[in-house]
Amino acid sequence: MIKFIVGLQWGDEGKGKIVDYLSALSDFVVRYQGGGNAGHTVVKGNKKFVLHLVPSGILHRGVKCVIGNGVVFDPAQFIKEVKGLKSRHINIARNIYISGQAHLVMPYHKVMDQLSERHLGKRKIGTTGLGIGPCYSDKYARTGIRVNDLFNKPLFYQRLKENLNLKNKFFQALKIKPLSISKVYSEYLSYARLIRPFVTDTRRLLIDAIKSNRNILIEGAQGTMLDIDFGTYPFVTSSNSSLAGVSSGTGIPLANKRIEVIGILKAYTTRVGEGPFPAENTGTLGDVLRTLGGEFGATTGRPRRCGWLDLVVARTAIELNAVSCIAMTKLDVLSHLAFLKVAVAYKYKGKLLTHFPADISVLEQCQPVYETLQGWPEDISGIKKYRDLPENARKYVTFIENKLAVPIKMVSVGAEEKQVIHKK
Ligand code: GDP
Ligand code: IMO
Ligand code: MG
Repeated sequence: MIKFIVGLQWGDEGKGKIVDYLSALSDFVVRYQGGGNAGHTVVKGNKKFVLHLVPSGILHRGVKCVIGNGVVFDPAQFIKEVKGLKSRHINIARNIYISGQAHLVMPYHKVMDQLSERHLGKRKIGTTGLGIGPCYSDKYARTGIRVNDLFNKPLFYQRLKENLNLKNKFFQALKIKPLSISKVYSEYLSYARLIRPFVTDTRRLLIDAIKSNRNILIEGAQGTMLDIDFGTYPFVTSSNSSLAGVSSGTGIPLANKRIEVIGILKAYTTRVGEGPFPAENTGTLGDVLRTLGGEFGATTGRPRRCGWLDLVVARTAIELNAVSCIAMTKLDVLSHLAFLKVAVAYKYKGKLLTHFPADISVLEQCQPVYETLQGWPEDISGIKKYRDLPENARKYVTFIENKLAVPIKMVSVGAEEKQVIHKK
């Protein structure tokens, strides 16, 4: 059985928490796209773990964590993350597999990312600055360097030289200090020694796992609205963060497979970085949600932009990912608000749109159409059974379920693993 966890908004929906929760029943947890730009939080008692490259199943002993070929792999960041986990007694030795076909994030990718943002000025994307876009650009330009290349020293040196000679010309033209080939070369060879035990053909590993009926959990990073093709381009990330990327990023052919797609939907909307966000509230409500929900980036610490739940976004994400059911997160954050609003459609030049417009210039002129629901004053974070939720909280869930025509099977009412309510 394959389960796919995908964010239905602009990322930070609480994917890490749900992946960790479902890892208890999984043999493999697999990342297929993105890289260190992801920040997936898992809370165990009073311990908080933020995972960037390491899949969120790592806290479960015996779960095999796979970094697939579609991920852009920053070895320095990975080593730092693994050290952090080890210092907290999380033994990863036999549990991590890195695809040799994954592309390496190189130091010049980070420089390019930051230069590009500076060049765009007010029109910047608001990237994480971690070199994600430039690394994927090199992959598609066929000039990228892959993890396997690290283990063939002459080839690695040659590819690095070809890349840096060109990039350094560009840096010099912009009066940026060129990077030293020999320094990067020796730095990456030291990483090669450390990561070598983890590198394998992850496609083969996963195909064999499927043949042996293993349970595979695929962990999406970012969210559907950040997808390179179907998101709010150019204010997106550089990979297919939707279902479209799963096959290419793992090598698993999805045809004829039993796959359950679990869409993660935060009970309200957030976005970090620039770009259109029709339901954004830049006033008091936005501040209240940010404070109550602790909405600060897990990777960059930036304050997240906040607003009411947007069902136009969710509806489109459900369609793109063939979502079978929803896990709604952070419902507890909405407690104590007198009323709640939900965007059910957009108004564009007098017309009602129920689906996300493909044209960003249309999107920029859309006004959300809201329906209002009653809030609940009770703290719900300790509730274990769906029927024990306040009536208005249940009404909120049912309203969304009906509007989206997809069952909400899980409701999360806190950051901890045990704070998940199953709705029959
Ligand atoms: P991800 O990128 O989708 O994994 O999400 P992040 O980890 O970036 O952001 C989600 C934040 O919400 C984290 O701080 C989580 O610990 C927290 N969180 C997840 N689920 C819940 C929930 O149901 N209620 C509350 N209050 N916090 C939650
Ligand atoms: P998780 O997996 C939220 C955003 C950045 C920026 C845009 C492009 O934790 O949900 P990039 O560095 O990828 O080139 O930045 O995408 N972004 C995220 N926003 N959650 C994420 O990941 C994100 N990863 C990238 O803020 O707007
Ligand atoms: Mg995150």
